[in-house]
Amino acid sequence: MQTLLVTGGAGFIGANFVLQARKSQWANVVNLDKLTYASNLQTLAELQDDPNYHFVQGDIGNSELVSNVLEQHQPDAIINFAAESHVDRSILSPQDFIQTNLLGTFQLLEASRLYWQKLSSQRQKQFRFLHVSTDEVYGSLSPTDTPFREDTPYAPNSPYAASKAGSDHLVRAYYHTYGLPTLTTNCSNNYGPCQFPEKLIPLTILNALDGKPLPIYGDGQNVRDWLYVADHCDALYLVLRQGCIGETYNIGGQNEQTNLNVVEKICAVLDDLVSKSGFKHSSLIAFVKDRPGHDQRYAIDCGKIYRDLGWQPKESFDSGLLKTVEWYLSNSAWVDSVRSGAYQNWIKQNYEDRKAA
Ligand code: NAD
Ligand code: TYD
Repeated sequence: MQTLLVTGGAGFIGANFVLQARKSQWANVVNLDKLTYASNLQTLAELQDDPNYHFVQGDIGNSELVSNVLEQHQPDAIINFAAESHVDRSILSPQDFIQTNLLGTFQLLEASRLYWQKLSSQRQKQFRFLHVSTDEVYGSLSPTDTPFREDTPYAPNSPYAASKAGSDHLVRAYYHTYGLPTLTTNCSNNYGPCQFPEKLIPLTILNALDGKPLPIYGDGQNVRDWLYVADHCDALYLVLRQGCIGETYNIGGQNEQTNLNVVEKICAVLDDLVSKSGFKHSSLIAFVKDRPGHDQRYAIDCGKIYRDLGWQPKESFDSGLLKTVEWYLSNSAWVDSVRSGAYQNWIKQNYEDRKAA
């Protein structure tokens, strides 16, 4: 594989993927990103002199721009990370989610199809469109339900999940209708370096370091499966190279945790690393008003990717969490750059009404 068009490569998972791709020489990378609030080009600063990395600022929904990028850079594959990704924001303002996740993916698919149809038959066969999606499309599990499989029916419950589900269906349709060589992955919650601190794990780490309350929605018993971001990136690269076109692959960490447990584990790591005079960070835990329609449990059966492609996560939750906390402790310039006025406004908007639980 020579050139990869990565969309959304200035966000959390996309940037980790781009850095891994260049470090491990997986491919030359063209990164197309709109640079929304969730992006940070500082994450990619080490690539600024890399001749095999190009950044283009733009929207996946701008078909003329996407077509020009495709014509100019002639990628051998596209990996689509670009999305609005935060469930709480999708509840407060769903419009952006429909615009990017659904309509944007449609425009990207359409531009990709037109580009792909003009390739030589040899390059057409080798071309791949990998769509990065979420386990949230499958809806909510009860504590005794079996984990999500690739054939679990879609039942999205939030505007975010619904917009991603719609994009997954479009990708499927472009394979079945036009033969575009697509692949879809549905992954569980990621954590690791460079995640925007609106999500549970970085929010908890940074609030705890500042001595601020650690907000837990509802009773903290909702369960998520957590995967270290580098393991996700390895899985994506494997699916890109060896996945069967037209198919979907579930990716997960086989690591189900209640939210309360996640927050308590972070507190314990911080107690070890930074506590002065025996301060217990867990004393900052604050139960707050629940998220509307809060899915009870996500769990992934990753038997297919394990059997067919031989992938399994390398990082344990304890080792991944330690690396993550250490990364936030040693990257205060990155942290400061993302906690701007807009971030403070979001914290106010999302948490002010939740205080009285
Ligand atoms: P993120 O919010 O951190 O980053 C999204 C990136 O996409 C940002 O850089 C943003 O600027 C860019 N973007 C947004 N709209 C765009 C547009 N219209 N055109 C071009 N770029 C645009 O998201 P993330 O957590 O890195 O997630 C990446 C992908 O992985 C998403 O598709 C998400 O649904 C999926 N996913 C995320 C998780 C998770 O736990 N974070 C889990 C499974 C799947
Ligand atoms: P989040 O990181 O937003 O990911 P997702 O909603 O995609 O799973 O949230 C993870 C879990 O943590 C989810 O069950 C909601 C919960 N949560 C809190 O309890 N408090 C918070 O402040 C946040 C942001 C999330």
